[in-house]
Amino acid sequence: MDFRFADDRLPYYEDRSPGSGTLPARAWYARSDAARLSLNGSWAFRLSDTAEGADTRFVADDADPAGWDRVTVPGHWVLQGHGAPAYTNSDYPFPVDPPRVPTENPTGDHRHVFDLPDDWPGGGESVLRFDGVESCARVWLNGRELGWFTGSRLPHEFAVGALLRRRGNVLAVRVHQWSAASYLEDQDMWWLPGIFRDVTLLHRPVGSPADFFVHAAYDHTTGRGSLRVDCDVPGRVTVPELGLDLGTGEEAGVVVEPWSAEVPRLYDGELATSGERVPLRIGFRTVGVVDGVFRANGRRILFRGVNRHEFHPETGRTLDLETMRRDILLMKRHNINAVRTSHYPPHPAFLDLCDELGLWVVDECDLETHGFCEFPGWRGNPVADKRWTPALLDRARRLVERDKNHPSVVVWSLGNECSAGQGLSEMAAWIRERDHSRAVHYENDPSYRDSDFYSRMYVPHHEVEAIGRREEPPLDDPELDARRRSLPLLLVEYAHAMGNSPGGLADYQHLFETYERCQGGFVWEWIDHGLPRRTPDGRPYYGYGGDFGEELHAGNFVCDGLLFPDRTPSPALVEYKKVVEPVHITGDTTAGEITVTNGHDFADTSHLAFTWTYEVEGEAVASGPLTVPPLAPGASADVKLPAPPGGDLVGEAVWTIAAELAADTPWAPRGHEVAWAQLTDVPRRVPEPPAARAAPRREAGALRLGPAVFDAATGTLTALGGLTLRQGPRLDVWRATTDNDRGAPWLAEEPLGATWRRIGLHRMRHRVDAVDADEESLTVRTRVAPAATDLGLYADYRWTAGDDELLLEVSVTPDGEWPCPLPRLGLLLGLPAEYDRAAWYGGGPGEAYPDSCAASRLGRYAMSVDDLQTPYVRPQENGARSDVRWAELRDAGGEGVRVTALTDSFWFTARRWTSHQLDAAEHTTDLVPGDTVWVNVDDAQQGLGSEPWDDGPLPQYQLTVAPTEFRLAFTALSRR
Ligand code: GAL
Repeated sequence: MDFRFADDRLPYYEDRSPGSGTLPARAWYARSDAARLSLNGSWAFRLSDTAEGADTRFVADDADPAGWDRVTVPGHWVLQGHGAPAYTNSDYPFPVDPPRVPTENPTGDHRHVFDLPDDWPGGGESVLRFDGVESCARVWLNGRELGWFTGSRLPHEFAVGALLRRRGNVLAVRVHQWSAASYLEDQDMWWLPGIFRDVTLLHRPVGSPADFFVHAAYDHTTGRGSLRVDCDVPGRVTVPELGLDLGTGEEAGVVVEPWSAEVPRLYDGELATSGERVPLRIGFRTVGVVDGVFRANGRRILFRGVNRHEFHPETGRTLDLETMRRDILLMKRHNINAVRTSHYPPHPAFLDLCDELGLWVVDECDLETHGFCEFPGWRGNPVADKRWTPALLDRARRLVERDKNHPSVVVWSLGNECSAGQGLSEMAAWIRERDHSRAVHYENDPSYRDSDFYSRMYVPHHEVEAIGRREEPPLDDPELDARRRSLPLLLVEYAHAMGNSPGGLADYQHLFETYERCQGGFVWEWIDHGLPRRTPDGRPYYGYGGDFGEELHAGNFVCDGLLFPDRTPSPALVEYKKVVEPVHITGDTTAGEITVTNGHDFADTSHLAFTWTYEVEGEAVASGPLTVPPLAPGASADVKLPAPPGGDLVGEAVWTIAAELAADTPWAPRGHEVAWAQLTDVPRRVPEPPAARAAPRREAGALRLGPAVFDAATGTLTALGGLTLRQGPRLDVWRATTDNDRGAPWLAEEPLGATWRRIGLHRMRHRVDAVDADEESLTVRTRVAPAATDLGLYADYRWTAGDDELLLEVSVTPDGEWPCPLPRLGLLLGLPAEYDRAAWYGGGPGEAYPDSCAASRLGRYAMSVDDLQTPYVRPQENGARSDVRWAELRDAGGEGVRVTALTDSFWFTARRWTSHQLDAAEHTTDLVPGDTVWVNVDDAQQGLGSEPWDDGPLPQYQLTVAPTEFRLAFTALSRR
């Protein structure tokens, strides 16, 4: 038998060409007066293990799919009980031998019988449209083969008018999970085969347009818009609000309000041809790179963006309109103004919503060949092999033709991580020829010959700064270098939001706001793609790579979003909202004045209402409206604060100034907070340490000091007032490593988390050198160190007792040459499980870390210990509250303990499991509450860092090992 096939003997699903039998690409629109019929619903389904394992008799009218299962279309069969999803990042999950695919090729046969509605018009043509099928589909209608197609996240249409009948149409679709096209679709995401977007039958009346192109530009120097609608059939274009009535192909100029992401002004219009009326939503705007800066309507804009994959935990990449809208509302409410549709065109209805609600869109083609990076020089890379160029061009065409009428789409992106190749250049050339009105983006070719942006991923801060100053190292080719130097910098991916990350957002934003060339970026990524699973005893959790029997996978790299899988915002999204807030409130309140700056690109501040609140020791004592004159974009005003409330208020006092929506908007209700700041009026006075009032007394194997009891041998605090501790406070340096601490598997250097483990920071031992009592204090001297190293930390604890509180002075002296920063430095103590009600005065309400604390707001908070946890899909360090002045834990009756900072403030963390249990957990359900509430009171924390592959947090956020002292007071709390 001959196993070596010539290309022309390969089956269609191993053909490099994009398909055959489909109609030319054209504009997509959701509404018109032409009839349409959704074919979504429950379809008969049969899964085979191989591409040709089953016969094709099912396409016939009289075939009997009696024994078949059913699936919901749109949907992925692997999420409907047939087979399993699989996750790889850049690895192809099959041997790389393009265009060949494995014999084991899950193949889903789909069959759907439908009638035409009674009023389905006669005459004209009818078109069968598939909006998305992964990865290769062969289609029959009423027994006749229509053709086949690839390009999973792109629409494909067939002319079917001649085949339709009133009743009993049999639509048969064979879908192969693997095809030659899989080599072009190596995006970092779940492999999810199926007919996962809508299937629609569209009537095309005689005289209806095959395609049309709305050109709506805006001249910011004149305030005039221009409109021309090109269409293959003659027709009229009307925009009643603008008094426009013009023929297709004609151009009209008129004064308009421009479209922008901030003010998404759309004009309703209509394209009427003899056969069809198509509603238009027209946004006038002009974008492009001018003088090295990407501008919209003449203004430099700053992308405050996110990378969005389409994801829903139940339905994968099948998204309903409600979910799409929810994503956009969440983005708008978190001050996000841009979305990159990584790494494929989204469902087109998403773009309608972006037009309507206002987001800048980088619309990316469905193309990634990342797995070829494994081979020298990306050997075999399809984008550098002209046999694949027709498929690449087909993808470019389907992207641009489908989405060209969306004002929100301002940049076409050729795809993601394909290295360089002539196929990409041909795509760019075709796109530029077809659409002059948008910029073209591509990141992965260092020459940037096909890109209007100097686009980079995960660039460290110092390099962003160098590029901002145009001081990047030159390219070898002076011409290309000069060109690249003239391009704006776009961080098309930055700040990897995997687990407890990213840190450093505020530092990036500062650079974007400092250097004109740095035009912002897109955080990686929007949502965790965790899939719901259950433990054998029925407890739900989210699974990731490796949980579905994959032999090759990239673990939890699929959970690296700003939203948890259920779309709950993570602390990182709250941080991002604060960091990119479009209004800046600064000032020195001692002068009674603040400065408000409008950071919007287009909108003035008249849509905002400002308020002030005066808080003393975290309690609001007065509040009111603040009059701020409407500010033009970029403008500032100094605003007088009211006189601070008088009276006998004592303690730390801050002004909280907030900017809220003054009226309901389509994306958030009136009162939604857009920006805020806290400005200190009266700084905190750290309480004086109480005078020592008691001397230590020895009592039957214990030492008593005021309200406290200590173990005489170890000097450990065992009881305070009526409270018996499960573990007295002692030095702790360990944290459950975050994804960034653990690093990326492909790193050459040892990640910090591995260094920590190698040294043994997770198994520190406490040697007690002395327990000394004198007239007023108890001093416990220890050396804290792991086995097998001479590194250590001398920790001395000096205890004194006040009237009803216990004072602790901790001094830490490093021993040895420490090669790395510490995870944390502070005390760990254990309380009985019933002390699970936390309250604190400090930063909140959510967690914060040194390089991710912009959103932490000084106040008084109360929360259960359970609610203090952040449920990262792969459990890891979380839940610290910053700048804590005091924190309490009480039981149901109100008894408990308060810890007060007597030097600055501390980081407060409490959980029902140890850091070691947290570290060992793979999924949230591995964490089972024990009999102890573990409390960390930290003097310092190591920052988070921005990515698992960077050099760690910026130097100022590293917990360098150094002599340290801090003081705390412990107070027993009795029943309230
Ligand atoms: C980028 C890639 C993304 C994602 C990310 C890591 O290189 O473009 O798709 O894989 O890294 O999560």
